[in-house]
Amino acid sequence: MGKIGNIVYQEQTVDSTQTIATALANEGAAEGVVVSAEEQVAGKGRMGRKWHSKYGDSLAMSIILRPTVPLEKYPQLTLVAAVAVVQTIEKETGIRPDIKWPNDILINGKKLVGILTELHRDKNGNQFVVLGIGINVNTAQEDFPNEVQEIATSLRIELGEKVEKEKIMQGIFTSLESLYRQYLDESFTEIKKMWESYSISIGKEIVARTLTEVIFGKAVGITEEGVLLLEDKSGKIHSLYSADIELT
Ligand code: BTN
Repeated sequence: MGKIGNIVYQEQTVDSTQTIATALANEGAAEGVVVSAEEQVAGKGRMGRKWHSKYGDSLAMSIILRPTVPLEKYPQLTLVAAVAVVQTIEKETGIRPDIKWPNDILINGKKLVGILTELHRDKNGNQFVVLGIGINVNTAQEDFPNEVQEIATSLRIELGEKVEKEKIMQGIFTSLESLYRQYLDESFTEIKKMWESYSISIGKEIVARTLTEVIFGKAVGITEEGVLLLEDKSGKIHSLYSADIELT
């Protein structure tokens, strides 16, 4: 397995680090190669949304992974990444963030981190994952776009002081390296427990919006695969692989 963060392409202004990392991986770049940027002008969010970041203030990076796991286990990777990020934030800042399934990282209900996992196949037919992590590190409140003013926060806002981006980035490499290795070598079970200890969604009444439907119900848990189980009013259990959820 390649060491995460051994090679980091540090860019200034790019469209999206996801696009660059995907192109590199297509050309055979090794597992663990990272692309980071000071600014993205077309940052990608989940479910077709945009991800905003002002020059220099946030951490935007994409990590190439080539996990040797069956396809149905890929949703777990997002949760492994979320645990690596919350552990790092807790260690570096003392703030213990919450995880909202699958991988929104929040402080006091406001979004601090977005994670986007994209699965591709390279020209040799090998599958790879581009794991995108965006963290509002030093963003000032007024620099968030209007549409996310009420729902976004940064480490600087929460702590009242600036945080070194580089420290957070290196911390994530270390934490992800060890969790990812544990995940590949052992199993997801221990990581699932860690994820659950940070989760604010399980056991709560929620509304889930998938690309095709809106379901109300109770989040009863996640499966060993990292899939969210949602029980609707009629008692039917829905298995959600991808959705936006909101606590009701
Ligand atoms: C989300 O919450 O919708 C996911 C946001 C993911 C943003 C990161 S920033 C680094 C990487 N490059 C992108 O264009 N997106 C991801």
